[in-house]
Amino acid sequence: MLIAQLTDTHIRIPGKLAYGVVDSSAYLERAVAWLRALPQRPDAVVVTGDLTDFDQLEEYARFRSIMEPLDLPVHVIPGNHDSSVGVREAFPQIVARTGGKPDGKVNYVVEELPLRIIMLDSSVPKKPHGELGPETLEWLDRQLMKSRRDTVVALHHPPFLTGIRHMDAQNLKDAAAFETVIARHAHVLGVWCGHVHRTIVTNFAGRPCRIAPSTAHAVSFALAKDAPASFHMEPPAVSLHLYEPGRVVSHTCFVSPYDGPYPFFDTSNRLMG
Ligand SMILES: [Fe+2]
Repeated sequence: MLIAQLTDTHIRIPGKLAYGVVDSSAYLERAVAWLRALPQRPDAVVVTGDLTDFDQLEEYARFRSIMEPLDLPVHVIPGNHDSSVGVREAFPQIVARTGGKPDGKVNYVVEELPLRIIMLDSSVPKKPHGELGPETLEWLDRQLMKSRRDTVVALHHPPFLTGIRHMDAQNLKDAAAFETVIARHAHVLGVWCGHVHRTIVTNFAGRPCRIAPSTAHAVSFALAKDAPASFHMEPPAVSLHLYEPGRVVSHTCFVSPYDGPYPFFDTSNRLMG
């Protein structure tokens, strides 16, 4: 089973660029085209927040229409640029996913895949940092107790420090409480995040915890204490998570155009050279 993870697409309304520079819709269109050209069709797409830049209905509508050609189930959670209210309005199917509740946190479980995915809403209204809060953490604990199936947990804000100070200042505030919950459940194979727009991996409660790269701009790799908040147009990427029972293997795949493929071996099966 293959899951595509897209994150931090930061879609704006037509005619507007993210931060005055990034044509984020064109970048998402490229990522979608790249995924459609893959010989291995993913089973589903997970989007770990910051779908939009300004939480506007028109931005969500544009996101949905760019994603449509994928013709895959798309599971979304809000980031700090979105909101729980905005995501609920834009994706009415979330009401059913969240037990019929018309409002509140966008916490739900994707049960229909061989790998169970718990989507957590870490957004805090009008704030850049993330927080799950006791209610969401208790809900998560209950969901993890309900089933011993292999599970991954997805949320926007990473629960660890990356060394990029201006982003660390706005990470997940109740990471320690979150870690305590994850540590209780051996069937959690990993934690998937967004927010920092670049591939960063660490261990969290003894599990792999991975920040996925954005389909558009990357937060600059800058570890100096006084490094200004900035971004680079590094090659945009999508994540492909390959699941087999007991294991998730996560690939960072750069979105073309680039040269290749070139064969390693000639027609006589000799190494090219
Ligand atoms: Fe973002």
